[in-house]
Amino acid sequence: MSQAPALPPDLFSLADHAALARQRLSPLARAYIDGGAENGLTLAANTAAWQQRELLPRLLRGLGPENLPDTALTLLGRPLEWPLLVAPMAYQRLTHADGEWASALAAQAQGAGFCLATQASVSVETVAQALGPERRAPLWFQLYGLGERPFAAELAERAQAAGCDALLVTLDAPVQGVRDDERRHAAAWPAGLRAAHLRPGQPPPTAPATWDDLAWLTAHSRLPVVAKGILHPADARLALEAGAAAIVVSNHGGRTLDTAIPTARALPAVAQAVQGAVPVLVDGGIRRGSDLLKALALGATAALLGRPVLHGLANAGPLGAAHVLRLLRDEFTAALILCGCRSLADCADALAT
Ligand code: FNR
Ligand code: LAC
Repeated sequence: MSQAPALPPDLFSLADHAALARQRLSPLARAYIDGGAENGLTLAANTAAWQQRELLPRLLRGLGPENLPDTALTLLGRPLEWPLLVAPMAYQRLTHADGEWASALAAQAQGAGFCLATQASVSVETVAQALGPERRAPLWFQLYGLGERPFAAELAERAQAAGCDALLVTLDAPVQGVRDDERRHAAAWPAGLRAAHLRPGQPPPTAPATWDDLAWLTAHSRLPVVAKGILHPADARLALEAGAAAIVVSNHGGRTLDTAIPTARALPAVAQAVQGAVPVLVDGGIRRGSDLLKALALGATAALLGRPVLHGLANAGPLGAAHVLRLLRDEFTAALILCGCRSLADCADALAT
């Protein structure tokens, strides 16, 4: 465990954290974290699509600093204080020496769920042990490579044994996206930075996978399986048929297919296709509490937050990551009050059409 740097005093938003992190991160880490695929159009569109939606507030619902909205929910049978999880992100030790150990603790401190990546730089056992048995929010484990069933089964077992609450399978990255900046800086990758769940030298699993493989996992796993990377409503239905317990509408933060539809625009059709059969989550470009409110208004049960958590980690270790989550949570509460939403269910009426 390394000493956490002090939290700089002039950080008031996730954008402030992003700007400071841009100065602090190495060129490689900056390219890896902040980069998008090809021309970065989906990366930019993700944020813009939330911003473009307009809210239509309701008044005099008795809400205020002394009567806060109820943000609690139950997700896959686990209580959650507010509808947010930290997205799976590989190699967090590139950002801070304590990597996923620090961001997982930050998530717990702020009552947010945490999803650990297959390509994490800290193992699931270490993270689960740091969080302890009496966790305040869910811990999920992300899988790739369903096409390599024995390895997927081994990782699924390992995640379950460590005490994870769900498996999240990423479906939208059968190849790495084309990311120019990352390739430009690839030579600077630290020799000692390894994926904790892959054997030394083992490449990330990339054998082609099909819906049958997802159905195999849902049948095989004792943990609920969440399907991440869905954009097309027909794929949402296929994921349901394969036994997915939840769906994440995602374009991988604009890191895989550039010009793929922004998630704020894909979400309504997916939510409609799912018809409440399972929770629908969303990620990509959420940077304000009002964005999170809009995600719920468009049919999401909860959202995942990616890059801002790493910016906080870069700026002040676990303290910085927790600060990012706290800023978002406070903004979300303010947005709920200002829209007259007493509970998460009230968000359904918060958007102008
Ligand atoms: C990711 N993402 C990702 N997703 C996944 O399923 N497995 C992974 O290993 C990674 N790794 C990863 C690394 C880094 C540095 C980033 C920024 C992202 C995608 C991530 O889970 C999520 O979908 C997006 O990051 C969400 O978008 P925002 O919030 O970053 O805009
Ligand atoms: C990425 C992979 C690891 O987005 O999912 O970098």
